[in-house]
Amino acid sequence: MRDEDFDFISDLLLTRAGLGLTPERAYLLEGRLTPIARNRDMADVEALLTRARTKPDDALSAEIVEAMMVRETSFFRDRAPFRQFSDIILPDLIKSRAREGRIRIWCAGCSTGQEPYSIAMLINDRAEELTGWSVSVMATDMSGRAIETARKGYYSQFEVQRGLPIELLVKHFSRRRSKWEINDQVAGMVSFHQHNLLDGASQFGEFDIIFCRNVLTYMDDSIKDSIFVSLSETLASDGYLFLGIGETTAGLADRMKRAHGLLGVYSPLPENFRLANTG
Ligand SMILES: C[S@@+](CC[C@H](N)C(=O)[O-])C[C@H]1O[C@@H](n2cnc3c(N)ncnc32)[C@H](O)[C@@H]1O
Repeated sequence: MRDEDFDFISDLLLTRAGLGLTPERAYLLEGRLTPIARNRDMADVEALLTRARTKPDDALSAEIVEAMMVRETSFFRDRAPFRQFSDIILPDLIKSRAREGRIRIWCAGCSTGQEPYSIAMLINDRAEELTGWSVSVMATDMSGRAIETARKGYYSQFEVQRGLPIELLVKHFSRRRSKWEINDQVAGMVSFHQHNLLDGASQFGEFDIIFCRNVLTYMDDSIKDSIFVSLSETLASDGYLFLGIGETTAGLADRMKRAHGLLGVYSPLPENFRLANTG
């Protein structure tokens, strides 16, 4: 790949999505961008990138960024975080939010919906206890394609076999043709929106729990911290942030701490701690 093409595409991914593209990952470009070149009757990826570089075209740039997204996900991915959510964190919030009767959850970078639907199924398990409560799951992703798929809630046999326990499949999905469709009750608990984490989050109000798992891994370090700050600012002072296993809030040690005994879960530090440390 020519240097000018590599520089163009890494700049595009960084400014539009916060994604870092290292030269080692450049091999991905060929496979991901060839279908776009073909659809546009261009000879190859080099021709595509020359066009994108020399004739600015917003739709083409968006299509290139969309093609480079990593949308890997599955139901109950990594299991432990969901166990912690249903056994420890949800019961804790049911106690602490008893007066308001309201819990707000944000699933940021939700990909094709398996993660927010997993959360909704666990909330549904406590439907009786939560009668009269308002419990909402807002799920967002910058990929329009991912959000469209998520809204349909329509998954292949392969997708449901990846992590979804059979009893939950039978309880919450209906067979339609060769696929499985999520039932209205669980689907109705989740609202999907296209949203870019680079655009901040203050417009959404405060959340009790934020899931932002396996999203920041792909981001450039310069962007990661500012997204962490905006996530921490929309989190309730006694709320919880779920990151992917292996992701950390490095660089934000003055804002978030690892929730005691929990894997991949962080909670905000009190503001006076922050002030004392920014002195
Ligand atoms: C690897 S998937 C993770 C999905 C899910 N959270 C999980 O852990 O299974 C990462 C998702 O982050 C989304 N994403 C990447 N950059 C984003 C950004 N700047 N704003 C919002 N979503 C973004 C991608 O479109 C993709 O769907």
